[in-house]
Amino acid sequence: MSQTCDVVVLLSGTGSNLQALIDSARTGDSPVRIAAVISNRADAYGLQRARDAGIDTRTLDHKAFEGREAFDAALIELIDAFNPKLVVLAGFMRILSADFVRHYQGRLLNIHPSLLPKYKGLHTHQRALEAGDTEHGCSVHFVTEELDGGPLVVQAVIPVELHDSPQSLAQRVHAQEHLIYPMSVRWFAEGRLSLGEQGALLDGKLLAASGHLIRT
Ligand code: GRF
Repeated sequence: MSQTCDVVVLLSGTGSNLQALIDSARTGDSPVRIAAVISNRADAYGLQRARDAGIDTRTLDHKAFEGREAFDAALIELIDAFNPKLVVLAGFMRILSADFVRHYQGRLLNIHPSLLPKYKGLHTHQRALEAGDTEHGCSVHFVTEELDGGPLVVQAVIPVELHDSPQSLAQRVHAQEHLIYPMSVRWFAEGRLSLGEQGALLDGKLLAASGHLIRT
């Protein structure tokens, strides 16, 4: 079995993706160990999920800092105290500075509720419906300096149904997030996933621009 891979998760909200990661890391043969969960919001429910699972938690309130750079520098210090191999953004509602992103180059993953490069930013389900898209989904990607950009690792594609609302779509997309995020983190932990000069590599092979595609 591969060595343990310590992971730090950053979040600001409910943390259903964190829960999926916790559940997946609990399976006997997983090399993933969630070393800490850090939030910029003390009331994030994700922190409670972490405490319930016996995981270390920290809160770093961005409002206590003057500017993005100062906050990000303190965040780096906090994260690095846990010496993680991988940092996972799971609904962390902060734009990260270039310095932060560069510091974790090749070991920073994010999940986004759209089929990137479509619908970067917020309200992705609403926007997919308004555009009349027949397909929607979610994406895991390595983080680069471009907001919601960066080489794609996995995309899960779901059909948009005739009577979908933003809520029903969000629910089905979330279910896919809970599958593809633990899978991607595990690939990284097993040493199968890395960031190369041309994009994301899985088992040493360059992934397609859309990442590994999963259709339901
Ligand atoms: C997810 O939709 C994810 O794609 C986005 O933030 C949301 C986090 O949800 N980045 P949760 O807190 O994991 O439930």
